[in-house]
Amino acid sequence: EEEERQQMREALNLASQLYHHVLIHTEYGTAAREYLKQREVSSDTIEEFQLGFAPPSYQFLLQILKRRGFQEELLEKAGLIATRDSPSQKKYFDRFRGRIMFPIHDSQGRIIGFGGRIIGEGQPKYLNSPETPFFHKGNHLFNLHRARNQIRKEQQAIVFEGYMDAITAWQSGIRNVIATLGTSFTDDQARVVKRNASTVVICYDADSAGQSAALRGLEILSNHDCTVKVAQMPIGMDPDDYIRRHGGTAFKEEIVAASLSLTAFKLESLKKDYNLRDEDERMKYLAKAIDVISGLPLAIEQDHYMRRLAEEFQLSLEAIKEEQRKRRSRKR
Ligand code: UTP
Ligand code: MN
Ligand code: MN
Ligand code: MN
Ligand code: MN
Repeated sequence: EEEERQQMREALNLASQLYHHVLIHTEYGTAAREYLKQREVSSDTIEEFQLGFAPPSYQFLLQILKRRGFQEELLEKAGLIATRDSPSQKKYFDRFRGRIMFPIHDSQGRIIGFGGRIIGEGQPKYLNSPETPFFHKGNHLFNLHRARNQIRKEQQAIVFEGYMDAITAWQSGIRNVIATLGTSFTDDQARVVKRNASTVVICYDADSAGQSAALRGLEILSNHDCTVKVAQMPIGMDPDDYIRRHGGTAFKEEIVAASLSLTAFKLESLKKDYNLRDEDERMKYLAKAIDVISGLPLAIEQDHYMRRLAEEFQLSLEAIKEEQRKRRSRKR
């Protein structure tokens, strides 16, 4: 049992080394190298993250690892090899083919799986390791083992959706960065983050999938007693795009520094449902906004957001508080 786990770890490490070698030193890696260059990923970054390339072959990894004495069943269990049942026999083949490989580590820095990106367009864009004895998508955070010291030092973690967001941020010198593996935050991930930082900045893509994942992540992290903030990306950009265009300093100063609290983010998201230039709709928005604020646990928090709302819409604080009283008594 323990020996099997050890062998699986060895297979994952070897796979990573082989993929990396193919990317750096072989003809097969040419297109992938070009692709990474075009995305401005430096050679240092390729080394740091041990990026690799899985050649478009069904037998590349399988052949080499079999020759080194690894059993097919074990490689399948480690998520490296897939199978198909043909009428006569079970057929084994490489799971990752023709993809740029991103090794994924656990918090102690051991390789537990991979994400593999297709070069250019195609489906799925990223193929990840399946669930294995080591790899549970909802438990891990990409880059945590590298970022942990800096996260502790700053008492702040910046969380992205994508591998490339974390890699580009790291390359630009921002080191308190991790990524969920394309899912929204889970309780397990929240617990891990909470252990390392008091504040979490969620910085997801500016599309609707990203925004609703951000909202779910906010709720989960708040339940774990984290101070959570949401950074807003300009429409149509993800953090990787932004940092490549504007640089890491701008990202910190314009995006992270301007991140919103949970309540402010909820109020901003709510605005998207109303045309605020229309007077009736504006009133409807205000009523809903007052309900959101009324749900806050602390009176001082409520007061703070009531004042902001009053200021933003040129209303008296008294009017807003009166409306709050009315809505409360109506609900009872
Ligand atoms: P995105 O679609 O935002 O991709 O998914 P990205 O990270 O910006 O990728 P690039 O810049 O086009 O290379 C965010 C994350 O969701 C997961 C991956 O972890 C990805 O980084 N994902 C996405 C998948 O697992 N599978 C997919 O097919 C797509
Ligand atoms: Mn190397
Ligand atoms: Mn996206
Ligand atoms: Mn993205
Ligand atoms: Mn991207």
